[in-house]
Amino acid sequence: MQTRRFAGRVFLLSGAARGLGGAQARRIVADGGSVVIGDVLVQAGQALAAELGPAAQFVELDVTEPDQWQRAVAAAQAMGPVHGLVNNAGVYAPVPLQADDGLAQFERHVRINQTGVFLGMRSVVPALKSSGAGSIVNISSTVGLRSAPNAIAYTATKWAVRGMTKAAALELVRDQIRVNSVHPGPIDTDMLSVRTAEQNQARIAQIPMGRLGTAEEVANLVCFLLSDESRYMTGSELAVDGGCAL
Ligand SMILES: NC(=O)c1ccc[n+]([C@@H]2O[C@H](COP(=O)([O-])OP(=O)(O)OC[C@H]3O[C@@H](n4cnc5c(N)ncnc54)[C@H](O)[C@@H]3O)[C@@H](O)[C@H]2O)c1
Repeated sequence: MQTRRFAGRVFLLSGAARGLGGAQARRIVADGGSVVIGDVLVQAGQALAAELGPAAQFVELDVTEPDQWQRAVAAAQAMGPVHGLVNNAGVYAPVPLQADDGLAQFERHVRINQTGVFLGMRSVVPALKSSGAGSIVNISSTVGLRSAPNAIAYTATKWAVRGMTKAAALELVRDQIRVNSVHPGPIDTDMLSVRTAEQNQARIAQIPMGRLGTAEEVANLVCFLLSDESRYMTGSELAVDGGCAL
């Protein structure tokens, strides 16, 4: 059942041209809200904004660039009171500890997955304060609860997202700003294309529910955390993973 729970509210979503962020944008607009879709993928982002109509706007956003965050927040404020941010933008590449390009890959993951989340929270807080309250959702991973083979760079950043979420939750609680982390298991998006079909089949065989999750199933949880239904929750870490954490 659709509700109008986000009527009159604006949300900024990073990495939302496709995948998990794209599904959240669709859900927020369906529930009466407005979205700024920030991403480095200009064509895909513009196409999604056009599909969603006047309640959506695309802004080119590289999450490693503080100035681009300022521009994205300003675009969101121009649409109305900003009530939330979802830090979706992220990269994943399998990087063994001894890989030749290990340091460069490690630093790339940190810049996008970790510094990007830090900058996003830092940039949006003044806008949330002026709206009187807000909700930030940081997308970590089940890898941010445990780990995975050949994933030292990704693991480092997803644990950092989980930790930064708790630090920010404590700091911002007095401003009526809640901060929670979401930990998806394997979800059917372009991100899984870095693995071979055989690797993905082997991964699916390990999932208690026996299938990949969908971007919509993650959006359900993210939108719950963005909404007032979760008003007593901050600093929490919630998995949406078909039982992978068991
Ligand atoms: N798909 C999964 O199985 C899975 C599992 C756990 C966590 N996650 C996390 O979910 C988030 C979304 O991933 P997804 O599955 O939708 O993958 P995706 O690759 O479809 O989406 C990631 C988005 O981030 C954008 N992006 C990358 N670098 C960026 C940058 N510097 N600035 C702005 N945007 C940038 C990409 O352009 C893309 O649109 C990521 O943080 C990812 O780590 C995904």
